[in-house]
Amino acid sequence: MKNLSVKKRLFEADALRARVVALAGDMAAQYAGREVILIGVLRGSFVFLADLVRELYHHGVAVQIDFMTLESYGSNTVSKGVVHSAKPFSIEVSGREVVLVDDILDTGRTLEFARRQILESGAVHCRTCVLLDKPSRRVVPMEADFVGFLVPDIFVVGYGLDFNGRCREWPFLAELNLEACHGG
Ligand code: IMP
Ligand code: MG
Repeated sequence: MKNLSVKKRLFEADALRARVVALAGDMAAQYAGREVILIGVLRGSFVFLADLVRELYHHGVAVQIDFMTLESYGSNTVSKGVVHSAKPFSIEVSGREVVLVDDILDTGRTLEFARRQILESGAVHCRTCVLLDKPSRRVVPMEADFVGFLVPDIFVVGYGLDFNGRCREWPFLAELNLEACHGG
């Protein structure tokens, strides 16, 4: 692909696997013996969520799974600042414990929007789990309950995260060279 270049490889598959195993352990300590609903934000969370639920199985946590499609980014790498729901979740969350799962917590707008929808639908509580957290980019106050890795303000792709719809299938996480991608 023209002009799609990696600046730095950040986390290889074995490091990602080890971190997901540890996160599942943390979640299992929280939800021991109870069934929890996981709602993934599409499309970025699909790889992380698929690995996470299988580790939760090994930790004895039963889950129900649904997804919601939210959009805030266009074909660019800068948030437009407005999140809208392209497709809501359909699972019944009333009276249930929910964990919202996303690939990355950036400005916080996406998770705030999603969390509000889940709580307004009657969930008893909604914790949040993200693979990556960019705390320096936060615009709205939002902290995730379960965080895989902290990252600085760089653009990350792979393991579900995309640039213009590409790179999601990479089995590792990498920092993209945005200057090269934009042809600069
Ligand atoms: P927020 O609403 O600003 O927190 O943005 C969260 C969404 O922005 C994530 O679900 C990602 O889809 C996208 N995003 C933010 N930073 C990155 C990145 O470094 N790589 C790929 N997608 C990103
Ligand atoms: Mg996303």
